[in-house]
Amino acid sequence: MGTLAFLLVVLTVGIFAVLLALNALLSIVRVRIPFVTSPRWVRDWLVRNLTLPDGATVVELGCGDARLLAALARQFPRVRCVGYEVAWWPLLLARLRTMRLRNVAIIRRDFFEVPLDEADVLYGYLIGSVMPRLENKLQRELRPGSRMYSYTFQFPSWPVAGSVIDPHNERIRLWVYVKGGGYRV
Ligand SMILES: C[S@@+](CC[C@H](N)C(=O)[O-])C[C@H]1O[C@@H](n2cnc3c(N)ncnc32)[C@H](O)[C@@H]1O
Repeated sequence: MGTLAFLLVVLTVGIFAVLLALNALLSIVRVRIPFVTSPRWVRDWLVRNLTLPDGATVVELGCGDARLLAALARQFPRVRCVGYEVAWWPLLLARLRTMRLRNVAIIRRDFFEVPLDEADVLYGYLIGSVMPRLENKLQRELRPGSRMYSYTFQFPSWPVAGSVIDPHNERIRLWVYVKGGGYRV
């Protein structure tokens, strides 16, 4: 009886582990953008340089483990910080990291499927292949003056309003876009 119970436990744990691994694999195939965190300097730069009035909304497109969003939420306690994430592992980390931050919402949704018109400032560290589709969406939905910060990847047609050079690699930048133009870093 003891051996049978032991085998049952091993089998259950094994099945659970296989399901978790499959789920992780599926989310990578579906999303095609791996979970890699933005470098520390980007977070520090945004925390120091963003100007956000009380009541503004910041949206992170694919928030990963939300370390950037959590830093912004702490710096701007009267700003609403919304992170969209679809992959289960970073989503779990993001929810754990932000559970005490009342101005943060971590939402399990594909950001292409939600309206983004509420955003005053957006941030994304994505991948080149999604930038054309994202540009179309943001051009349709954002209000004039809303700002989008993109680490590494540029939009194909939207004119750049400014950029910050990566202190560790001068070929990489944090790109700044403004709906309607008229802003420089
Ligand atoms: C390169 S990581 C960046 C994570 C975080 N933004 C950071 O800078 O540390 C990109 C994240 O976006 C998520 N992602 C990719 N496409 C997405 C989509 N359409 N909707 C929501 N999340 C998405 C991925 O799961 C991944 O965690």
